[in-house]
Amino acid sequence: MFGKIIEYTQTGQKIKINFEYQSGEITVINPRVFHVYSDFGADRIPSKAVVDEKIIKTNINVTRKEDAVRIQTDVLTVWVYDDFKIDVYDGNGNALCRDYRGKRMPRITISKESAELMKKEGHKVALSKDKYQIEVVKEMMNTAAFYGLGDMTGFLNKKGYAYELWNSDNPMPHVDSFKSLYKSIPFMIAKQPDSAYGIFMDNTFHSYWDFGQESTDYYYFAADGGNLNYYFYSGKSIKEIISAYIKMTGTVPVPQMWTLGYHQSRWGYESRSDILEIAEKMRQFNIPCDAIHFDIDYMEQFKVFTFDKEKYGEPRELMKLLAEKGFKAVAILDPGVKAEEGYDIYEEGKKGNYFATTPEGEIYTNVVWPGEAVYPDFGRYQVRQWWSQKIKRLVDYGFRGIWNDMNEPAGFAGEIPPDIVFGDEEAKSTHAQMHNVYGHMMSEAAYEGMQKHDKRRPFVITRACYAGSWRYACTWTGDNHSIWSHLQMVVPQLCNLGMSGMGFAGTDIGGFGSDATAELLIRWIQIGCFSPMCRNHSSKVGRYQEPWQFDEEVCRIYKKYVELRYQLLPYIYDCFCDMAKTGIPVMRPLVLAYENDPDTWELNDEFMLGENMLIAPVTTQGSRKRMVYLPKGDWIDFDTEELIQGPGYFIKDAPLDTCPVYVKAGTILPNYPVQQYVGEKEITELTLRVYQGSGDYYHYQDDGESFQYRQGEYNLYHFSIAPNGRFHMQCMANGYKKGYKSLRIIYKGKEQIVPIQDEISITL
Ligand code: GLC
Repeated sequence: MFGKIIEYTQTGQKIKINFEYQSGEITVINPRVFHVYSDFGADRIPSKAVVDEKIIKTNINVTRKEDAVRIQTDVLTVWVYDDFKIDVYDGNGNALCRDYRGKRMPRITISKESAELMKKEGHKVALSKDKYQIEVVKEMMNTAAFYGLGDMTGFLNKKGYAYELWNSDNPMPHVDSFKSLYKSIPFMIAKQPDSAYGIFMDNTFHSYWDFGQESTDYYYFAADGGNLNYYFYSGKSIKEIISAYIKMTGTVPVPQMWTLGYHQSRWGYESRSDILEIAEKMRQFNIPCDAIHFDIDYMEQFKVFTFDKEKYGEPRELMKLLAEKGFKAVAILDPGVKAEEGYDIYEEGKKGNYFATTPEGEIYTNVVWPGEAVYPDFGRYQVRQWWSQKIKRLVDYGFRGIWNDMNEPAGFAGEIPPDIVFGDEEAKSTHAQMHNVYGHMMSEAAYEGMQKHDKRRPFVITRACYAGSWRYACTWTGDNHSIWSHLQMVVPQLCNLGMSGMGFAGTDIGGFGSDATAELLIRWIQIGCFSPMCRNHSSKVGRYQEPWQFDEEVCRIYKKYVELRYQLLPYIYDCFCDMAKTGIPVMRPLVLAYENDPDTWELNDEFMLGENMLIAPVTTQGSRKRMVYLPKGDWIDFDTEELIQGPGYFIKDAPLDTCPVYVKAGTILPNYPVQQYVGEKEITELTLRVYQGSGDYYHYQDDGESFQYRQGEYNLYHFSIAPNGRFHMQCMANGYKKGYKSLRIIYKGKEQIVPIQDEISITL
């Protein structure tokens, strides 16, 4: 397609290569990262994902070598050949990644008749295309695993599977054969035995990712439109690759601390008394809870920015009652605006030309919850401004968070046609191009609305995403079901989301669709309490799944794990602060910490919470024991305090009230007392659980709510422990005036209270 290389020109770190038929560019961003670009007819499309493409001054050496152009940095050599084929070698000359030169071998060819016949029985017949507008095919080489690609079903390792990125709302149980879910995050990591690299294709069109399903010789990524536009990240570790990608696309901002507490939700809290009853029960059962979510029931006829006062009373009064008990209310918002004459949002949108239109210029309608509905054109700044202004109404009612749903965007009357006109800021664009970023832009509007009107760190949830959406919103994995296979999917799904950037994520605890059993709910909270976001949510037609809807045992165990989450809040908050700096997710697969250990590459039922805790949940009905893999090092069983030496596989008793958890020897774990909600107690003392061994730990503290930390109003404490029990603390920053007054240190079963000073050195 590109033809033979004619010549190249170099401008700074950008190398433009003219081929016979088309030109291509390689831009060296830093010694380990480069950008591949070629115009395919679409104008340069402003990226929705990349916020920092700063080019770091890098020594590069560019030469023409016979049939290729060679671009060298200190650690990477990129060879560009005819047809814009690219091969990448590391500093030692080992091949990292090579473009595939052979023929693609389309997977299956069946006759039209057979396809029609299969469709008649209800089979989905979608054969892979053999030609895409954009297509990059790379050699499989010795790739052992593919990770990332955001939110997908199945296991951690995506090798051998094919997916499509096209934000989709499909309420059927999400099974391994699903090609797409609600999110499109076009980032993947290829793990080879001794190296790894990452690729981010910044292309919002329907894209296709085949990790070796079509052929074991190659993998490919392709798109229906846009330009050839991808970044290649190499690094000394997978963590370094993720950090480089996140640096470009922005990090998850530090959230308000209460958002890390427990959230209770259900589609079906249909009145003021339903909501108040939930609030009362949470407190009556002493199960900590910070937030109650208002699903679409709270609106008048599902009209966004309305509040059904008949059923819920005066919003401000209701929110006040909730706030007095420590609850924050979160309101759902859908993009679909009811097409109803006289409804203010519809009228304003019509007047301002804020809605997507047909190519002929008519407002495009589809059907969502309120019936006939229209779609705000969030790709345009003006529309986002309008929407963010409307959020004031919800903030004035007292809502503390916005939950964006149905923003793939979904439509009950069938998919929005590709040529429906959506804007990309000032430029006219199409649904085909804007679909995968619709949820992203809606989240931006909600974020700005909350920032402007609530003034605290915005709490926004979104179902649909693109790369970078985490700058504005956290997410949940949509409409899962109360089935064991969905519980099993939680770990790989959240870990891949985290490695793709969406590190503030959770699943509907207990499952959304279908009916939870007592045992399933217990096992789910045992993962949910360690997930970045912790919300129990269910659908109207499923069994009630607040813990008291089962029996005393469920309540007892549920409470134990929600309380554990509240005890761990300072640790979880620290993990979020680290993620905000480095992009390394709070919940991560073991391969991120132990990538040279092949036994971690495909661990689907264990994960790390931060650097120090390893969680090995039970995800099989009836299991009361499980096999746990512990990588190299000394581990301490969180419950029994038994010391175990890894690496190895161990059988662990896991009765219903036990989720196996381990900490690394030398861990210093900050704890808070159990509170019914964040802020219930004034925390003047920090508990430190210190585990024997050698280790150190940074603990961060601020007001947990405002942006004042950006003005230096935070404290940073550095703790360390030596094998002989020598403990040291140093205050590295003390801008937050309401810091702790003392430390309660627990070590080998003994406790001591030490007043805070700038520096402490004691033997425990
Ligand atoms: C969608 C959401 C779900 C919500 C429901 C009603 O199915 O995914 O969480 O409860 O809509 O708003």
